[in-house]
Amino acid sequence: MTLSRTFVAAVVGILSAATSANAITNGVGKLPAWNAFACDVNETLIIQTANYMKEYGLLDVGYNHVNLDDCWAMKDRSSTGEVMSDNIRFPSMNTLTDQLHALGLYYSDSGWFTCAGFPGSFMHEEQDATTFQSWGFDFLKYDNCAIPFDDIIQEGMIGSGAWQMLSLRWQKKTGTTLIFSLCEWGWIDGDIGPQWNLISSIINSVSFITQATNYYGRNDLDMLEIGNGDLTYDEAKTHFTAWALVKAPLLIGTNLATISQEMLSILKNQEIIAVNQDPIYGTSISPFRWGINSDWTYNAMYPAQYWSGPSENGTVFMLINTESEPANMFFNLTESPWIRAGIQYSVRDLWTHTDNGTAVRSFTAMNVPAHGVVALLLKEDGNEPTGLMPPCAGEAFYECTAENGTSYS
Ligand SMILES: *[C@@H]1O[C@H](CO)[C@@H](O)[C@H](O)[C@H]1NC(C)=O
Ligand SMILES: *[C@@H]1O[C@H](CO)[C@@H](O)[C@H](O)[C@H]1NC(C)=O
Ligand SMILES: *[C@@H]1O[C@H](CO)[C@@H](O)[C@H](O)[C@H]1NC(C)=O
Ligand SMILES: *[C@@H]1O[C@H](CO)[C@@H](O)[C@H](O)[C@H]1NC(C)=O
Ligand SMILES: *[C@@H]1O[C@H](CO)[C@@H](O)[C@H](O)[C@H]1NC(C)=O
Repeated sequence: MTLSRTFVAAVVGILSAATSANAITNGVGKLPAWNAFACDVNETLIIQTANYMKEYGLLDVGYNHVNLDDCWAMKDRSSTGEVMSDNIRFPSMNTLTDQLHALGLYYSDSGWFTCAGFPGSFMHEEQDATTFQSWGFDFLKYDNCAIPFDDIIQEGMIGSGAWQMLSLRWQKKTGTTLIFSLCEWGWIDGDIGPQWNLISSIINSVSFITQATNYYGRNDLDMLEIGNGDLTYDEAKTHFTAWALVKAPLLIGTNLATISQEMLSILKNQEIIAVNQDPIYGTSISPFRWGINSDWTYNAMYPAQYWSGPSENGTVFMLINTESEPANMFFNLTESPWIRAGIQYSVRDLWTHTDNGTAVRSFTAMNVPAHGVVALLLKEDGNEPTGLMPPCAGEAFYECTAENGTSYS
């Protein structure tokens, strides 16, 4: 049970001791500075961000980690090999972590250098684990820049992660586990950015690997760009919905000093976050119909449109209008493998937070905005009305037959 409640990050992730029990059940993710600030980070900014998280109610809905990405270290290690924090921008990591109480942070790298050229943990795994533990960190992002040449590594994709070693040593030393965010590039293409084509491209990539997610690990789709760049409100909602319902870690990559209330409200949709944090089902939603493309089509601009998956409260649906005009979106309930034939379903709209009546056999979302999303929770609501014709709903390819031999198709 403990494990099933703690997911959060990409791989061997488990929550640390620094978070309260309450935070653990809500352990959504954290608030990084990277996408908004890149290397321009310092202690003041981190504390300020943490304060905004509290003030804006983000902590209340479960964003309980602050993530310092790169650029916090001195370029060189000490003479004894310890990684040192930048003496001007981060004069004392302990003071910082003390102030962030329930909020953890950290960045490391599996290679010689981090992505911005600071010391990586390769060959310093144990030493760095000790340092990070003494600084009170709770979260480890292990990136994948500047990995050594093959003649040094001599390992496969699994073994090359000195990350396993770091994780194990951490556990041995501290008696606690830490959230572990592993970066193994290749499954999801490219870094995210605040443009619709990048969001749709990542949704397309993940549509083919939804089965690779459960409590053992998460497909990390990269940070949230809600409120950044030129993403519209509808696009930002689609972005958030897709990330949350495929159970990706939810890492806010936005400058909270300038975010709008509208964008903030997206990040705080508790009905969507609840599905991301489902204590019973760790599985992702997956497409049951691609829509304008035929099923299994790889198309970065027009990814799968009709998705569903199980949750503790019923079946969750996500409909994405990938076109640049509003559209009506129709599906037969039994197209989703989680829906039972012969049963009618109550419909909850997870964005308008309204109960939208009862669906019998099919549902149509009217006028879904361009690049917009619909998120629904369908709950069983008794048998469908008697005498509905044809006696079997759904796909034309199955034919059903009465006891006396009369067929319907
Ligand atoms: C900290 O970083 C922010 C954002 O880059 C910058 O505006 C601010 O001047 C910096 N503060 C200090 C004390 O360096
Ligand atoms: C299920 O419903 C309960 C009661 O409304 C709610 O507290 C919980 O967060 C929901 N879980 C999911 C996964 O939506
Ligand atoms: C659900 O009902 C609300 C309120 O009437 C409406 O705004 C919303 O569009 C409906 N959702 C769907 C998916 O039809
Ligand atoms: C929905 O079900 C009807 C029959 O009840 C069928 O004719 C139609 O092809 C189905 N549509 C889809 C998209 O499965
Ligand atoms: C066969 O059974 C069906 C369904 O019960 C009924 O509608 C139909 O009239 C019956 N046909 C015959 C030939 O008895």
